[in-house]
Amino acid sequence: MSAIVETRELTKFYGATRGVENLNLVIQPGQVFGFLGPNGAGKSTTFRLLMDFIRPTSGTARVFGLDVRDNSLEIRTRTGFMPGDFALYPRMTGHQIIEFFSAMRRVDAASEARVLAERLDLDLGVTVRNYSTGNRQKLGLVQAFMHKPELLMLDEPTGGLDPIIQQEFYGMVAEAVRDGATVFLSSHVLPEVERIADQVAIIRDGALVRVDEVGAFKREATRVLSFTFAKPVDENEFTNLDGVSDVRTEGNRLVITSSGPIDPIVKAAARHEVIDLDANEGELEDVFLAFYEQEQ
Ligand SMILES: Nc1ncnc2c1ncn2[C@@H]1O[C@H](COP(=O)(O)OP(=O)(O)O)[C@@H](O)[C@H]1O
Ligand SMILES: [Mg+2]
Repeated sequence: MSAIVETRELTKFYGATRGVENLNLVIQPGQVFGFLGPNGAGKSTTFRLLMDFIRPTSGTARVFGLDVRDNSLEIRTRTGFMPGDFALYPRMTGHQIIEFFSAMRRVDAASEARVLAERLDLDLGVTVRNYSTGNRQKLGLVQAFMHKPELLMLDEPTGGLDPIIQQEFYGMVAEAVRDGATVFLSSHVLPEVERIADQVAIIRDGALVRVDEVGAFKREATRVLSFTFAKPVDENEFTNLDGVSDVRTEGNRLVITSSGPIDPIVKAAARHEVIDLDANEGELEDVFLAFYEQEQ
C-alpha cells in the first residue's frame, strides 16, 4: 500500500528563517504517527505545507498519493486538520463554525459534531471569543473529527485540555484508527506521544533527528534495576557492563542504573541467588531530552 503522507526534501524558508529543511517523512496507513519537537522546531510549518496553506521553498509533498499543491481541495476534504492556533471568526458560535466547516467539506456532519461536543463537554451555543483556550481546542477537535476523515492531522491537540477530556481524546483517536483512519499529531508533551503513537519522528531545528517505533526509544531509556540477593555481591561484576552508569550496593541489595541492554545485567545477576527484583519503566523523557539537547 502506498504512503498516506510522503514528503521529499521538503523545505520552507520564511525569508532567512528556516521553517523546515530537507524533510523526508513517510506515514503509512493506520499509523498513529507522533511528531515531537520543541517550540520552533518546524512542526506547524510541516502541517501548513501539507494542507497547502503555505508553499514550499523546494521539495515536494504528497497526501493520499496526491501532490499537495495540485490537489489541496481534495486533500482538505478527506483530512481533519486541527491547527495549533485554532481561533477563527470570534463572533461565530460553535454551531456556526461547525456549519461553516461542513459546508466547506460538503458534508453534513452536524449530528456527529453534536455527539463529539457532548463527549468533550463543549457547549456549541457559545461564541468563539467567549470560549476559553481549552474550549477553542475542543472545537478544533470536533471540526477535525466530525466528518470521519481518512487522515487526522492534529497540531498539538491536547495542550489546554484537562485530564478527563484528554482521556476522551485518546479514545477518539483509538476509535478513528480502528475505523481505518491514519493519525499524524504533533506534541511537545513526551508522555502523550508515548501513550498514543506507535511511530515517533523527532524534529529539531527544522530537520528530522530520528524516526523510530516508540518501543525502540523505550529500550534505550535509562532504567533502574534493583536486585536483592541471598548474600552480598561484588558490584565490580556489574560496573563495566554495556550502558551501566551507576552501581550501588547496600547489604544484600544492588541497585544498577543502565541505558544499555538488559540481558548482560540479568545474566551477571543470575550467577548469584536472586531473592527479589524490581525494575522500573525507563524514562522516555531522558531519551528525548538527549535529542533536544544535541549540539547545543
Ligand atoms: N509565518 C512565519 N514567518 C516567519 N517565521 C516563521 C513563521 N512561522 C514559523 N516561523 C519560524 O519557523 C520556525 C519553525 O516554526 P514552527 O513551524 O511554528 O515550529 P513548531 O510548530 O515546531 O513550534 C521557527 O523558527 C519560527 O519562528
Ligand atoms: Mg507549532
